[in-house]
Amino acid sequence: MKGWNRTCRCAELGGADVGRAVTLMGWCHKQRDLGGLVFVTLRDRSGEIQLVADESSPTAAREAFTRVRGEYVVAVQGVVSLRKSPNPAMPTGSIEVRVESVRILSESETPPFYIEEDVQANEPLRLKYRYLDLRRPDMQRTLAFRHRIAKLARDYFDAKGFLEVETPMLTKSTPEGARDYLVPSRVHNGTFYALPQSPQLFKQLLMLAGYDRYMQIARCFRDEDLRADRQPEFTQIDLEMAFVDVDDVIEVNEGFLALAFRELMGVEIPLPVQRMTYAEAMRRYGSDKPDLRFGMELVDVSDLVRGSGFRVFADAVASGGSVRLVRAEGASGMGRKEIDALGEFVKTYRAKGLAWIAVDDEIRGSVLKVLTREEIDAIVARAGAKKGDVIFLVADKDKVVFDALGQLRCELARRLGRIRPGDWKLLWVTEFPLLEFDEEAGRFVAMHHPFTSPMDEDLEKMASDPGSVRAKAYDIILNGTELGGGSIRIHDQTLQKRMFALLGFTEEQAQHRFGFLLDAFRYGVPPHGGLAYGLDRLVMLLAGRDSIRDVIAFPKVQTAACLMTDAPSDVDPKQLEELGIRLADGNAT
Ligand code: AMO
Ligand code: AMP
Repeated sequence: MKGWNRTCRCAELGGADVGRAVTLMGWCHKQRDLGGLVFVTLRDRSGEIQLVADESSPTAAREAFTRVRGEYVVAVQGVVSLRKSPNPAMPTGSIEVRVESVRILSESETPPFYIEEDVQANEPLRLKYRYLDLRRPDMQRTLAFRHRIAKLARDYFDAKGFLEVETPMLTKSTPEGARDYLVPSRVHNGTFYALPQSPQLFKQLLMLAGYDRYMQIARCFRDEDLRADRQPEFTQIDLEMAFVDVDDVIEVNEGFLALAFRELMGVEIPLPVQRMTYAEAMRRYGSDKPDLRFGMELVDVSDLVRGSGFRVFADAVASGGSVRLVRAEGASGMGRKEIDALGEFVKTYRAKGLAWIAVDDEIRGSVLKVLTREEIDAIVARAGAKKGDVIFLVADKDKVVFDALGQLRCELARRLGRIRPGDWKLLWVTEFPLLEFDEEAGRFVAMHHPFTSPMDEDLEKMASDPGSVRAKAYDIILNGTELGGGSIRIHDQTLQKRMFALLGFTEEQAQHRFGFLLDAFRYGVPPHGGLAYGLDRLVMLLAGRDSIRDVIAFPKVQTAACLMTDAPSDVDPKQLEELGIRLADGNAT
């Protein structure tokens, strides 16, 4: 671009620039040719500005403008002037640039969808042409916002004495509960690296190595079923600190969250952030990530229906489960259809049914014939239900009751419009169980990961009642989404060995998988702990997006495929041969 230097971005110009000669470069958004008068809207990262060529403009410039089409890349030189008919809907709507010289830098075919703020194109098409989708102003804003969060995290933790250290991408599998992505080794045929599910063991080793405070914006890989808030590769703001206990980790992170909300959202988060134990969260909200933006707490009515004539309720209690309810205030206007839909909704959480009682002039409901009047009155009283309310009950094993009602209260809040926009509810959930019984495997698995420390108070229960041992583990929840999680780690070799044994690893297996960690633990380990945020989730929530794909430049779809590059794809048979790999159905090309 000899002799042409871009003066500024399009939307950086304003009324104060009138009369200024500028050189702008960008994409043509719209072109309108009214004969002697040609308008082009020029777009770049900052936004848009109107360009105009009329009869007083040099002929070459006007002619070039008549040839410009959508998404052509152009450079223009001209003078900023006031617009005759301002467009208040456009930030630069009071001005335009009268062009004197135009260079078409690149032409464009007609794009497969129109590039606009509220895109109409479906998501697969947008993802196939992601580079065009990324031109849309809201995508550009979101990625700029993501950059600001990442930078704020780096600056904040830097100021607190954290060092950013990179950890390997090609590593040995460390169990975090998901399936690994494996990378075959060419040099050592038959062996594999794993892509990290998180930098967990490396950050612990950095503590042992004396680095004391570590942070990293770290890419992680997990081969798991994808959902709206899960990607196979995602990014963590990952932290670890030495010589700390739970409160120290929480405190430094509350500082980060408060700063992020203040700087990026203009919202003051009252500190300290509320804390709740896992047991309390389950009992009151049926979830380990409760959404505190609305009430509708669970109420236990097991004692009221123990021995009831309604076998479904009585049997649930008799077999060690429970009957619980949520009360939806003022929901009695709900139609039968909607109530039936809620019944279907809880079935997706394995509830066998959803009983309901509506308090109107008279009591209505699905269990009037099967419960006695006394039982119903007692339930209504326990629920605190008033005229206009509906009570929803589920009877089952606790796990199912919590899951179904925990989800139902969120669904009810959405349907009844009980969530105020701009409401931010942060919560620490603490004292998670150390272990979780995996029915399929028939053994305990770590609820967080195998390096999480049990609570000191519960140490002696590790042998007698491992299922009841609580961990020094904590999650940070924002509006019902798990934003991050962490724990204080085991720093004692013997305890770590006991933990591996509880998880069913033999001594040899533990040595094979984690020998390097157990070896390292022989050489002086500081007490340490940390946390990792899902950066994508943080951006998604703060930017008000429903899907994690909207905050990642090049995301994958539900089937873990990239629609733009077509990854994953087959490879040259020669590559497989070098890796010593033969496919089950042959190495066809
Ligand atoms: P954890 O497994 O809880 O902890 O992960 C931390 C946070 O990462 C985010 N996250 C994801 N985001 C998008 N897609 C995914 N598939 C995905 N999986 C997890 C979540 C989650 O809270 N090493 C530990 C942290 C520690 O103990 O310090 C760890 O990885 O927001
Ligand atoms: P039934 O006697 O089977 O017609 O059930 C009466 C009501 O109880 C219906 O509204 C069912 O949806 C509901 N119901 C059935 N099983 C359960 C359960 N496990 N928990 C709560 N309600 C249930």
